[in-house]
Amino acid sequence: MSNRIEEAKKILLGNRKKGYTLPTNNKLYPAQWNWDSAFIALGYSYFNIDYALEEIETLLEGQWDDGMVPHILFHDKDTSYFPNHTTWKCGKNIPSSGITQPPVLAIVLKKIIENNKLNADQDSRILKILKKIKKFHEWFIKFRDPNKTGLVSILHPWESGYDNSPIWDEPMNNISVDKELNYQRRDLEVSNSDERPLKIDYDRYVTIRDQFRDVNYDPYKLYELSIFNVVDVGFNSLFLKANKDLIELLNKFKLNFEEIELFIAKSESEIIKLYNHDIDEFISRDLNTNKDILIPSITNYFTLIADLKNNKLNNKIINNLKNHNLNEKYFFSTIKPDHESFEEKRYWRGPVWINCNWLIYQGIKNKDKEYSIKIKNETISLIENKGFHEYYSCKDGSVMGANNFSWSAALYLDLVNKKNEI
Ligand code: DGY
Repeated sequence: MSNRIEEAKKILLGNRKKGYTLPTNNKLYPAQWNWDSAFIALGYSYFNIDYALEEIETLLEGQWDDGMVPHILFHDKDTSYFPNHTTWKCGKNIPSSGITQPPVLAIVLKKIIENNKLNADQDSRILKILKKIKKFHEWFIKFRDPNKTGLVSILHPWESGYDNSPIWDEPMNNISVDKELNYQRRDLEVSNSDERPLKIDYDRYVTIRDQFRDVNYDPYKLYELSIFNVVDVGFNSLFLKANKDLIELLNKFKLNFEEIELFIAKSESEIIKLYNHDIDEFISRDLNTNKDILIPSITNYFTLIADLKNNKLNNKIINNLKNHNLNEKYFFSTIKPDHESFEEKRYWRGPVWINCNWLIYQGIKNKDKEYSIKIKNETISLIENKGFHEYYSCKDGSVMGANNFSWSAALYLDLVNKKNEI
């Protein structure tokens, strides 16, 4: 085990650039990604608190004036990735993408603060970080829920982080691809095509992105005209938890939080309403067609981390979770294996992802001690046996995607350091 701990630290340090960390050391992701960086910061906090804070500070340096924190920051203007900064054509201080990613920063920051004894200098850095995270959350409330429903929308599958999840299949099928598209994928130069999204997915990703670029990423217009507009239960659950953690931190640092507190109350009751009791499953919603989306995705279980105030429902969710991978050796697969959309190898359509296991573990440990210990131990042993990869097969544990994957290393460090927490 201790070898893996040292290896995890080495991976993070090996992937580290000036003030930020790449998701991997191969050429697949040569930039700073939003939610990767949050998880990475947590990993650093176990051996270098300054690197942890710096990782977050660098990410927030890329925050736009309106509050949005982009999903990618292209610090060194590398062009070996598609779509790189030359095609997004945006960014405030740092060239960036024009969309965002799951706002997990507050969740991670709260843990970092709890785990460490901070000095005055670090406290003042945290105060600055907190103000920026607050602005980011307010941006979500203002621009991604303009009709004040209590649920925020994502406007591009990349915003979810689970890019080619079957959750997006129906909304994506409605998108007709721009005929003039002219781009060259770079991901297939460094990874297997059967482990990556399809060409039609990329055609649609680019079509949506082009639509956003045409209106200069104006957040009002994006919400109005986006050909993709989905209220996803997993994403909203992460935002709810992040809001709950954020107001605790704002309170501690004597900053006001009324708007966020109001949003929390509304969001909590709206997420509960997304549970469909006939089929015993959470639904997401395509706002462009008003259709429900029914996909047995592991991300629906992010509702556990949201700590919904409804024990009966939480128990149902946990029972469903226990059935998600009943016959598989490794869990949790991104999609329930008996579902028609399941694909063992294709990115977010089946493989096991460490961040999903970690998020679910965080959500279940105060609700089902025995099962949460199982999740933690199985996740640790998957990594100890197979190493730090991007994703794994739920059937035989075979490894896929990038190697030396930073968030797998970072979250492993958190799990082993908390080995006896419950
Ligand atoms: C990719 O390039 O696959 C990323 O997930 C997009 O954010």
